Amino acid sequence: MKGPLPMRQQVSGIIVLFGASGDLAQRKLYPSLFHLFQQGWLSERFALIGTARRPWTDEHFHEIIVNSIIAYNQDDSIREEAQKFAKHFFYVSNDASKTDDYLLLKEKMVDLQKTYQTDKNFLYYFSIVPSLFEITSKNLKETGTTSLEGNHRVILEKPFGTDLASAISLNKALNISFHENDIYRIDHYVGKETVLNIWATRQFNPFLEAVWNNQYIDHFQITLSENLPVGTRGGYYDQTGALLDMFQNHILQVLSFVGMDLPKDIKEIHQSKEAFLRQIPSFTLETTQKQIVRGQYSEDLSNIYLAYRDIPEVDSSSTTETFVAGKIEVNSPRWSGTPFYFRTGKALSSGKYTVVEAVLKDRSSGNSLPNRFTFLIHPKKGIEISMNQKALKGHFAPQIIRLTPDQSLTGKQEPSESYEILIYYAFLGNQMLFTTWEELKEQWRIADSIKAAWAALPAPDFPNYAANTLGPDDAIALIEKDHRKWVSKRYNA
Ligand code: BG6
Repeated sequence: MKGPLPMRQQVSGIIVLFGASGDLAQRKLYPSLFHLFQQGWLSERFALIGTARRPWTDEHFHEIIVNSIIAYNQDDSIREEAQKFAKHFFYVSNDASKTDDYLLLKEKMVDLQKTYQTDKNFLYYFSIVPSLFEITSKNLKETGTTSLEGNHRVILEKPFGTDLASAISLNKALNISFHENDIYRIDHYVGKETVLNIWATRQFNPFLEAVWNNQYIDHFQITLSENLPVGTRGGYYDQTGALLDMFQNHILQVLSFVGMDLPKDIKEIHQSKEAFLRQIPSFTLETTQKQIVRGQYSEDLSNIYLAYRDIPEVDSSSTTETFVAGKIEVNSPRWSGTPFYFRTGKALSSGKYTVVEAVLKDRSSGNSLPNRFTFLIHPKKGIEISMNQKALKGHFAPQIIRLTPDQSLTGKQEPSESYEILIYYAFLGNQMLFTTWEELKEQWRIADSIKAAWAALPAPDFPNYAANTLGPDDAIALIEKDHRKWVSKRYNA
C-alpha cells in the first residue's frame, strides 16, 4: 500500500442485509451500493440477499430498490440502469429466532455464490434493532452459515449497547460467532471524508503539527448543529437523548481525530485514538455540574415545531436531553490547559452544520477575532484559516482574513457518501474507519460517567430552550465564564 488509503480495487462477494425493508436501507444503503457499482468499485460478481420479517417477492424488493435509487438521485433517467442493478438483489424473509429461516438463507448464499461466481466474501449487515444482534449472530453460527468457506464479516449499526455493561455483554455474545477483526462497528461520522481529513491535514502539513499543542492552541470547539427537531423518531430518541445519540459516538470519534498523537503509520490510527480516549477523565458529580450543560426544547415561538414532550412516543414529562454541550479537559503534556468544548442539539436556529475550530492563542490582545484553524465537516467541506493581518487601509488595527476552500471543486452529488466508503472498506477487510472495541469501551466509560452524575442530580428543569433558537443560555455561559466565545459563524449569526 503506497498511500494511506487502499488502492482502488473492485470488490466481489455476497451481502446479507438484515433489515432490508428499513429506512436506513432505503435512504442510504441501496443508493450507496448503486453508486459503488456505477463507479466500478463493486464488481458484477456480487449479490445481495435482503431479509426482514415481512414476506416480499424479489420483484417487490426490486421495485423498492429502484425507487430508493431514483429518489436519492432525483433523476428518473437512471431507471433502466437501476433496474439492471436490482437484478443482483434477492429477498428471503427471516424471523430472527427461527433457525429454519437461516438454513434457507444459507442455501441461497451458496446458490448465489455459484451463480454470480463471487469471491468468498460474506458481509452481514445488521441494520436491525440492537436487541436482535445477539440472536441473529448466534443463529448464523449455529446453522453453520458462518462456517461456509470464506471471509465472514459483520457490520453493525449503532447503538452498540446502552451503557458499558450492556456493550460488554453484547460484545461477548458476538465474539462467539465473529472474531473481533471481523466486527465492523459503524460510526458514519468516521466514514465522512472530511473527518478523515482531520488526520490527513495534520499528517500532510508538519507546520500545523508543530503548533498542535497547548503552547499555541487556546482551545477547541466542536459543533454539530441540527435544525431539524426529533420528528418521527420519538420512541428511539426518548430512550437515547443527545448524549448517547451524538456525543457518545460521533463527537468522541471526531474529538479523537483532533486530539490524538499522529500515528507513525496510518495502520496504527486506532492505537492513537484509543490512547487519546483513555486520557479523557471520567466525569464526576462536580465536573458534570460545572462542565456539562443539557437542554430540551419547547415549541418554537411561532408554533411550527411541537415541543419535544408533545412528540408521539415521547413521555409527556420526559427529562431526555435534546441538547448537550460540555468542556473536556485532558491532562496530558500536549493538551493540559487546552480544553475541548463541544455542543450539539436538535431544533436549533443555527441550521445543520458540523465544524471543528482550533482557536489559536492570541498574543496581541487587540485582535478583532481570534486566529483560528477550522475543519469544515458539513455541509461546507475542507479547511479554513482565519488570521489577523494589518488592516490595509492605513491604520494598524488587526483585521481578520479568511482563506476558504474553493467550493467550486466540490461536485454536485457527493461522490463519497460515508456509507459507500464504509461498505467498501468492510468488503476489503479494512478496519480503519470503524470503531474498535477498545475505542467503544472508552466512549461508554466517558458517557456513562455523565449519565451516572445526571442520575444522582436533581431532575433538570426542562424545557429550557425554545425550538428554533440557539439552545439553552447555559451553553453560552459555559464558555463565556472561561472568557471565551463560541466562534463558529452560523451559530452566532
Ligand atoms: C445519527 C443520529 O447518528 O446522526 C441522528 O441518530 C443525527 O439523530 C445524525 O441526526 C446526524 O448525522 P449527519 O450525518 O446528518 O450529521
